[in-house]
Amino acid sequence: MTNLSRRDFFQSTAAIAATGVLAAATDTTKAQTGTPSGPVVISSANGIRATDKAATMIRAGADTLDAVIAGVNIVERDPEDNSVGYGGIPNEDGVVELDACVMHGPTCRAGSVASLRNIKTPSLVAQKVMERTDHVMLVGDGASRFARAHGFEETNLLTEKARKHWLRWLENHSNQDDWLPPEVPDKGQHGTADLTVPFHYGTINCCACNEKGEVSGVTTTSGLSYKIPGRVGDSPIIGAGLYVDRHVGAAGSTGRGEAVIKTCGAHTVIEAMRHGMSPTEACLHALKRIVDTTTEKRLRRKDGRPNFDVKFYAVSNTGAYGGAAIWSGGKFSINQGGTNRHEPYTYLYERPEP
Ligand code: GLY
Repeated sequence: MTNLSRRDFFQSTAAIAATGVLAAATDTTKAQTGTPSGPVVISSANGIRATDKAATMIRAGADTLDAVIAGVNIVERDPEDNSVGYGGIPNEDGVVELDACVMHGPTCRAGSVASLRNIKTPSLVAQKVMERTDHVMLVGDGASRFARAHGFEETNLLTEKARKHWLRWLENHSNQDDWLPPEVPDKGQHGTADLTVPFHYGTINCCACNEKGEVSGVTTTSGLSYKIPGRVGDSPIIGAGLYVDRHVGAAGSTGRGEAVIKTCGAHTVIEAMRHGMSPTEACLHALKRIVDTTTEKRLRRKDGRPNFDVKFYAVSNTGAYGGAAIWSGGKFSINQGGTNRHEPYTYLYERPEP
């Protein structure tokens, strides 16, 4: 518990206790010092293949950032996953726009792309922005031109499955326009009959620590389903969807990006860890900030609690980790101690029965 006075520590833990926070998951942080004996890689539930791949690569000597990017690339390239990359749910015009950012702890560098079209792996383009420009962030057409210059292959990212989701949304979201659903719903694979895609903020964050205590992270997404073209969430914003500090750790987020941007979410997690909170405590601290700043009636339930979810993930440079959500019920992916598994989030509120 470096960088923390005894009084600050008791204040921070008392503040958490006072919220009535429910702690469902194991907090691995307490009393952990030094560096881990092997890689620790954390991700969202849909990143279970990413944690496996990244940990394997780190064990074989790969850099932590190369490893987490290679991990999320598996999902970015998977047409069946509708949350990121190829196969992501498109914007309201039916065009897939991707956001991603990366941070490399050892060199304190960062790269980011937003509203990137036609490239399956925005995380790799973000890494290229970090390595081959004097900038941190490229957006839209500029990001596409930069990716083309670096030889990234261009593809139509709208899969048949995602197009059917979008068309179903288009034909059903208003009865005041001229788009009509089919009289007889389509059947079969990727027909509309079996499509029940709600709005979602599907995203992958993946953060890692190696046995030397080096930390890195990546966040990648296709963003909010059916978003207004040009809408950018938290995922590509350094300090919101991802933040890495080599003296502290790495943290990232998934869920409602607007709430995370307004509270500088991942940066808030890392600063809380810097001042002595464990990763789990720090994630809960940042979630409480979101609850506190959600003043809009349309975003609150009758009991005043948010009607959306946000999840934070964090790993310290000692290998301690934690994942927390506003609402109970979810799991995050973790590779630690040689096993790749899902663990339940710690959470603020018990999700009511549907
Ligand atoms: N967290 C992903 C997004 O809001 O775009």
